[in-house]
Amino acid sequence: MLQWGRSSSLRRLERTFIEKVPEWKESKKKDTGELTVLLEEERTIPPKPHFTNKANIKDESIYESASKDPEKFWENFANQLYWFKKWNKVLEWNPPYARWFVGGRLNISYNCIDRHIHTGKRNKAALIWEGEPGEERCLTYWDLYREVNKFTNVLYNLGVRKGDVVTIYMPMIPELPIAMLACTRLGAIHSVVFGGFSAEALSDRINDAEAKLLITADGGYRRGNFLTLKHIADEALQKTPTIKNVIVVRRGNFPVKMKEGRDHWYHELMQDAPSYYRPEPMDSEDILYILYTSGTTGKPKGIIHTTGGYLTGVYATTKWVFDLKDDDVYWCTADIGWVTGHSYIVYGLLALGATVIMYEGAPDWPERDRFWAIIEKYGVTIFYTAPTAIRAFMKWGEELPKKHNLSSLRLLGTVGEPINPEAWMWYYKNIGQERCPIVDTWWQTETGMILITPLPGLTTLKPGSATKPFPGIIADVLDEKGNSISVGGGYLAIKKPWPAMLRGIYKDLDRYVKQYWSKWSKDIYFTGDGVKRDEDGYFWLLGRVDDVMNVAGHRISTMEVESALISHPIVAESAVVGIFHEIKGQAIVAFVILKEGNKPSLEKEEELKEHVVKKIGKIARPEKIIFTPELPKTRSGKIMRRLLRDIAESRVLGDVTTLADPGIIEELKKKYEGKE
Ligand code: WTA
Repeated sequence: MLQWGRSSSLRRLERTFIEKVPEWKESKKKDTGELTVLLEEERTIPPKPHFTNKANIKDESIYESASKDPEKFWENFANQLYWFKKWNKVLEWNPPYARWFVGGRLNISYNCIDRHIHTGKRNKAALIWEGEPGEERCLTYWDLYREVNKFTNVLYNLGVRKGDVVTIYMPMIPELPIAMLACTRLGAIHSVVFGGFSAEALSDRINDAEAKLLITADGGYRRGNFLTLKHIADEALQKTPTIKNVIVVRRGNFPVKMKEGRDHWYHELMQDAPSYYRPEPMDSEDILYILYTSGTTGKPKGIIHTTGGYLTGVYATTKWVFDLKDDDVYWCTADIGWVTGHSYIVYGLLALGATVIMYEGAPDWPERDRFWAIIEKYGVTIFYTAPTAIRAFMKWGEELPKKHNLSSLRLLGTVGEPINPEAWMWYYKNIGQERCPIVDTWWQTETGMILITPLPGLTTLKPGSATKPFPGIIADVLDEKGNSISVGGGYLAIKKPWPAMLRGIYKDLDRYVKQYWSKWSKDIYFTGDGVKRDEDGYFWLLGRVDDVMNVAGHRISTMEVESALISHPIVAESAVVGIFHEIKGQAIVAFVILKEGNKPSLEKEEELKEHVVKKIGKIARPEKIIFTPELPKTRSGKIMRRLLRDIAESRVLGDVTTLADPGIIEELKKKYEGKE
């Protein structure tokens, strides 16, 4: 039986197949895991001298030396952090269990704050925060030091001890990273739950981790509305027996119910808190945090990250991938509730003593140019966002960024899903003004750090490709049996441990082994992603393997068809799914959002089908195109193909609790059934 990463949808699809096509079982056995790669992208963009001259890393030989001795390579970065006690051994690898910097002791909040206070960055802006309604707060490293120390004492006084789990359910306000850093100072394990999740999702996560304390806020602003987090938390708290205390930050002065003896105001507790807490010297392998990830399917898994290796990995990648300099103003638009925010808003950046922008709200509030206004206002130099956002910007038009001075930007990044070459080019031209390299960074909650990425001063870019493994990362493209495919498509696999790798799934060791280390052998990490390697050794991510269709014996990535559709001038966004088809095995159904000013019609449906044929070939011709104003997305912006498949196959809908806007489904169903 094949393993399909985090997808249960494919297993379901597989069952449907087996029921309807008896010989399918047979053909599946012959499956080699090779993908049929159809889209070719030939543009290349070499690094520009103005960038390379000043880049942190410009010597190609680093790839070779790192791959010869990865342990030495990583150790060199670990040496740039502050350790109370040095490690005895860089790596202990008993597949699939790794221990990094064995015997070393360090503290993350010390590395992210205290160190900078002592080395001349005391008055440097650490966090610059903008609320959605427009307020501004700037915390220097000294401010952060003071707040984190006090809040660590607050946690201690409420009984939190080393090894306890603290759940954090907050909007994007500075108290969120302060709370995370306070946990690390004391040695508590944090579990941040994205502020957009429901009460049920929150209580599930609290209970799975058996958290002792919850940190939340009265609410936060989103698109002009106040999200009442404390109300949602109250509902969750009815089912969470392990929570003894709740700390509430006052963000908006909104009425909340405080339960006597359990709930406490942050500002009241902080008033009398002592101003220093000695950072706990943590073992390198002590748990730093748990982060639940469900991707688009299945029961959430509590991914475990530990201390020394994680910090080393995010430190190294921040420094080299973002080419971070002392005077940079860095902005990552992710929410800290996701791994991107953990690694590349909080830990990597603060470990380097950077200035980080944090924005609370939506990109289209009050107007659709809010992001560009923020870049102009604070002189942002490095901007890191997601392809889904870029496609929204494309849809809104290039006039909006043109209204602002974006000349401070020097580097752009993307993360979260494959970026279509057209979206890449749009970003390059309209935001980066053909001046800024784009780092398309591939990684996962599980990997903790960026693994496949350009190095901006060194790598010739190809739009749509995440380019090459970071130095020291041994990635490969494998077929079903584990044979390496030097040119062509297959599964993305990582063949050597890396410092920020996950150490397990909380309370579910079996699943850790089964999910990630069993596809080929227990020393090869299965990413669950499809990838193509081209003649130059570049990696082209094709999406989750559960997003791969099998049409008439050809495996086609949904992403390739989407790219083809998006390259048509009237298309803003599209999501493609494979549905059961008597003859072809699977047929392609495309959900399409048209750019503003275009009305759906039968002619347009035909035109787009032909366009895909022209771009890819006849086998990729969509069976059906459904025009829609929106697509169902998780709160982190990933398209929920599982739901689209359910609609397209008219099945009972699966779990919709992670859906950002459940109303979309009903609308889509009506459209599909032809009632609208
Ligand atoms: C996808 C987010 C293509 C991929 C950091 C991966 C990407 C999943 C890229 C992890 C990229 C992330 N190009 N695909 N640059 N970055 N992905 O855990 O399918 O939320 O497995 O971590 O996102 O998502 P997660």
